[in-house]
Parts: sequence; structure tokens; C-alpha cells
Amino acid sequence: MSLLKVENLTVRYGAIEALRNVSFEVNEGEIVTFVGSNGAGKTTTMRTLSGIVRAASGRMQFKGTAIESLPSHQVVKLGLVQSPEGRLVFPDLSVRENLLLGAFARRASHAELNRELENVFELFPRLQERLKQDAHTLSGGEQQMLAIGRALMAKPSLLLLDEPSLGIAPLLVQQIFQKIVELNKKEGMTVLLAEQNARMALKIAHRAYVLEVGEIVQQGDAQVLLKDERLQKAYLGG
Ligand SMILES: Nc1ncnc2c1ncn2[C@@H]1O[C@H](COP(=O)(O)OP(=O)(O)OP(=O)(O)O)[C@@H](O)[C@H]1O
Ligand SMILES: [Mg+2]
Repeated sequence: MSLLKVENLTVRYGAIEALRNVSFEVNEGEIVTFVGSNGAGKTTTMRTLSGIVRAASGRMQFKGTAIESLPSHQVVKLGLVQSPEGRLVFPDLSVRENLLLGAFARRASHAELNRELENVFELFPRLQERLKQDAHTLSGGEQQMLAIGRALMAKPSLLLLDEPSLGIAPLLVQQIFQKIVELNKKEGMTVLLAEQNARMALKIAHRAYVLEVGEIVQQGDAQVLLKDERLQKAYLGG
């Protein structure tokens, strides 16, 4: 079943057309990835879904609800939650405060919040060890864990992950990708992943879309695309 359906999305920043007639969908239970180079429009797509950037035209339906004109907090309430590129944790708040803010839109009970925190700690034990530390004192990788953990606190039915591998050591990237697969398999969480590390993203994804300067130029089964000659040349260093 289609959880998210996007049709003919066009986004402009002044004279720059960042997305042109982009259409895609994400089905329940899928990991879908957007592959594309710098400036292709991956972050713009996510920011538009989250209601941070407004589309010039096009339709976006999440769980059957039109979300084009919803404010961000309403989108989050519906279960569409983004872990932003460049982490963007609140620097002067502690790890614990950052995590709790993730659940802000849910008005969950104290017991529920504690349960969610436990879930996040199970995924990222490091965060538990750093609970009282200010977010800006965390390492880059730890901040990335925090950003993902904060998104998880909102109990998303669709998690948008923008470049989770950015600036992170390869070993940790692998761990984070493993966690993504785990969340998808165990909790049935649907994931939309934007990544420049196309190989890693395709390996864990079910389906993929290739974005080039604002347009979708290729799409299909991720494992098939992983072997695609054109894609190998352009994005997979082979
Ligand atoms: N606020 C903005 N104002 C003007 N132009 C913007 C703005 N944000 C993005 N752009 C432009 O829109 C295009 C798409 O950018 P976007 O950030 O979506 O790309 P991306 O695929 O996420 O790239 P990267 O892999 O480098 O993160 C780029 O040409 C960028 O310069
Ligand atoms: Mg980006």
C-alpha cells in the first residue's frame, strides 16, 4: 500500500528550479533511497515533504492526506519525521533534552517517553552514556546518532533520513545502516533515505530513484540498479 505518493512536484528557489515534475511513491514497509550527486535535489525533496520548503506545484499525499500546505508540526504529527542533513541537533541542550524534544508533538505519557528512550538507547547505547552532556560537545558521529534518535522519539511511520553517513567513520556508517535495516525489519518502519554513498544505500534499499539536477532519470528495484551499467559509471565508481 502506498504510504506516500508524490506527483509532479516542482520546487523553485527564486530563479533556480531545484525539482522539476518529480513523482515517486513509498509503500508501507519499504526502504526507498534517492541517489544523486551534490545539488541533485535530495535535501529539497525531504524539506518539501516536511513542510519546510513550499512547492511551486505538485501533489503530496501521506496516508491519504494532502500535506502540501500543512505546517511542519502537523506533518510530524501524521508520522512523517525527518532526521535532517548536517544533523542540526540543539547544541546547548543535553542529549536527553534533545531526545525528549523529538517526542514533543506526541504528548506522550511519562511512561511512554521512558519506553521510547529505552528503545533509542538499545539502538545507540552511546547516547545513554552521554545523556547529560550538551549536544555540541558530542562527536560528529554521536550527533548523527542523536539526530536519528530524536527522529525516532517521534515514532515515525515514515522516517526521512538525509545523508546519515555524512562526516562519519566508515565503521559507524555500517552500524547506522544496520540499525536502519533493523528498524525496518523489526518494527516495520518505512524509510526514505537520501545518500551520496549510493552503494551502501542501494544495498539496504528495496527500491531507488535516481535524481539528476532536479529530475528523476531512473528508478526501480535497488538490487537491479546496483548492477546497472550507467549507474555504476555515474555513482558507484565502477
Ligand atoms: N535555500 C536555497 N536557496 C537557493 N538555492 C537553493 C537553496 N537550497 C538549495 N538550493 C539549490 O537547489 C539545488 C538542490 O539542492 P539540494 O540541497 O536539494 O541538493 P542535494 O541533492 O541535497 O545535494 P547534496 O548531495 O549536496 O546534499 C542546488 O542547486 C542548490 O544550490
Ligand atoms: Mg542534501
